[in-house]
Amino acid sequence: MKTMRKQCPAPPGELAGLRARLAVAEETLRAICSGEVDSVMSADRKGSLVFTQDGAEHAYRVLIESMNEGALMLTTDKMILYANNCFARMVKCPLEQVIGSSFRRFLSNEDRAILRPLLKRVASSGAKMQVVLHVGDGSKMPGHLSIRPLARNGFKSPTFGIVVTDMTEARRSEELLRTLTHRVVQAQEAERGRVALELHDTITQMLCAVLVCSQTLADKLPERNRPAKAEAKKLHEIIRKTVEEVERISRNLRPSVLDHLGLVAGLHDTSTEFANRTGVSVKLICVKLTARLPADTELALYRILQETLKNVEKHARARNVTVHLTRPGNTVQLTIHDDGMGFNPDHHPVRPKGEGGFGLLGMRERAAYVGGTLKVKSVRRVGTEIEIRIPLPPKAETTRVLTEKM
Ligand SMILES: Nc1ncnc2c1ncn2[C@@H]1O[C@H](COP(=O)(O)OP(=O)(O)OP(=O)(O)O)[C@@H](O)[C@H]1O
Ligand SMILES: [Mg+2]
Repeated sequence: MKTMRKQCPAPPGELAGLRARLAVAEETLRAICSGEVDSVMSADRKGSLVFTQDGAEHAYRVLIESMNEGALMLTTDKMILYANNCFARMVKCPLEQVIGSSFRRFLSNEDRAILRPLLKRVASSGAKMQVVLHVGDGSKMPGHLSIRPLARNGFKSPTFGIVVTDMTEARRSEELLRTLTHRVVQAQEAERGRVALELHDTITQMLCAVLVCSQTLADKLPERNRPAKAEAKKLHEIIRKTVEEVERISRNLRPSVLDHLGLVAGLHDTSTEFANRTGVSVKLICVKLTARLPADTELALYRILQETLKNVEKHARARNVTVHLTRPGNTVQLTIHDDGMGFNPDHHPVRPKGEGGFGLLGMRERAAYVGGTLKVKSVRRVGTEIEIRIPLPPKAETTRVLTEKM
């Protein structure tokens, strides 16, 4: 007897729960369609249950009807041969009006245009697609389609099995997560600004006063008291370096150069500071922008560069970094390339809670918040490239390219 073991996932969160259900539903449909199973074993906390598929047709139908996902069988011209009750409930349409009608009626023109070629080339491994279903009461429902070609089973032309998952909750959770992340970023920026101001207004002022005193002390000590004079000079030098360091921290916390001089100056400052401190060579190539970019876009690019350079310092062991600011079409693009050890961006090692790993995630969120995208390309022992592209309002224009080496 061929048996499929179905592990009921404990719901760790709504999104993860939905994904797990989707994976189980897809696997179930695939296995049933291919005839790989004739029984389903369900294991949950209460123990194991075995469902044997006796009169196969009936049992498959019971299974499909009990799914929390919509299930459809389509012809190549998208006529619905079969739909389960769950799909009828999803699209708020009586089942008898769904079966025999065209699946196209539930799709937008754009989704129809994507589905048509997809059905033509869908391989036995299946295809996936995100859609917005046009529901019977005039509302719209985000959905996920998992499509597989079915065995012919007496039909003259090919048919397709589709599992439809309602993604409304998943989208809502994603939206909520995005809003929360943005609030965290905003709160972080506000707090950084407050700390930078405090540092500037109190610590830096006091340190400057101590710096002047130490200079006066060194000047006043007589030449004959050489050891004491040398100590005073050393003290003066330490205080001078401390002032510089506090200013650097303050600048990083709140990039006043970005506020006053714009993105190119901000990128230049960050790259110079990084090159001087780490010894890694940084080449900066920027288009000169004649107009200021939206403040959110400038801040996002500036912070992403800071975070990327932090990663280069922490992980890459690179010798050279290239930062390239361009203006393709009506977008601004920042590309940061290092020649370090590289990594696998698709592999996310599980880390204990509180052990970081938020840098790339935060960069992605910053880019997404201003409508942009972030791509990571990395090859082991060759290097890593981070590319951020953000759409711009129609006004901003470029003039010439500036190249600098730090
Ligand atoms: N330029 C790079 N070169 C090599 N590996 C990198 C590079 N950037 C990132 N990585 C790898 O990707 C992982 C994830 O980076 P991410 O910035 O998200 O987290 P982190 O730097 O480990 O922690 P955090 O940024 O929260 O302090 C890193 O742990 C590292 O293994
Ligand atoms: Mg990091």
